[in-house]
Amino acid sequence: MTCAAQAAELLQLMALPGETLLDVGCGTGYFLHSLQSRNIPLEYFGIDATARFIDIGRSALARFGLPPERLQAGRIEDLDGRADHVLCMNVLSNIDNFHRPLERLLKMARKTVILRESVKDGAEYRYVEDRYLESPDVLNVHVNAYDRKELTAFIRSYGYSVSEIADLRTGGAPEMVIDYPHYWTFFVATRIDGI
Ligand SMILES: C[S@@+](CC[C@H](N)C(=O)[O-])C[C@H]1O[C@@H](n2cnc3c(N)ncnc32)[C@H](O)[C@@H]1O
Repeated sequence: MTCAAQAAELLQLMALPGETLLDVGCGTGYFLHSLQSRNIPLEYFGIDATARFIDIGRSALARFGLPPERLQAGRIEDLDGRADHVLCMNVLSNIDNFHRPLERLLKMARKTVILRESVKDGAEYRYVEDRYLESPDVLNVHVNAYDRKELTAFIRSYGYSVSEIADLRTGGAPEMVIDYPHYWTFFVATRIDGI
């Protein structure tokens, strides 16, 4: 199973018709297909820091009925507004730290935040060369694994209950990405204080 399929199946359990989903770090917005193929009745929105991905998604997803303005170029740190459900997959592990961006997501969501990130017992922060990028320059990237207890306590402190769910694609085993281990794990955070 792909991580998008698992995320869609988690959302399916809680999605009500007409509710909104914001996919943060959506890439080209291909997660729309995971919703549509399961008839999940959520209104899809995506943001991504890479404007080129947004341009590609706007043009490719128009024929699947997605209005172009549903995909926007932007950074998590600058987000505001509200969405019923927020999804963030494979993003926070590759930025400098999770606190500020995750706070934005937790403040925006009315009901649920679903994360898939690299999480384990004991944090590991790396800033390492990505040898797989097609660039003549040496480019470093963050490859972080966040501490399970710290992450879940942070989520709870914003008025959520949180469950950890094993990643089905990797079966919970570390996966080497650009030669560094990633400990993919899903978290489903459910708002308990209402906004
Ligand atoms: C590994 S891709 C994941 C894409 C998609 N979520 C998935 O799981 O296939 C990470 C994405 O996060 C985006 N990204 C990285 N930092 C970001 C930020 N600060 N704000 C918004 N998007 C960001 C990148 O442009 C990239 O498209």
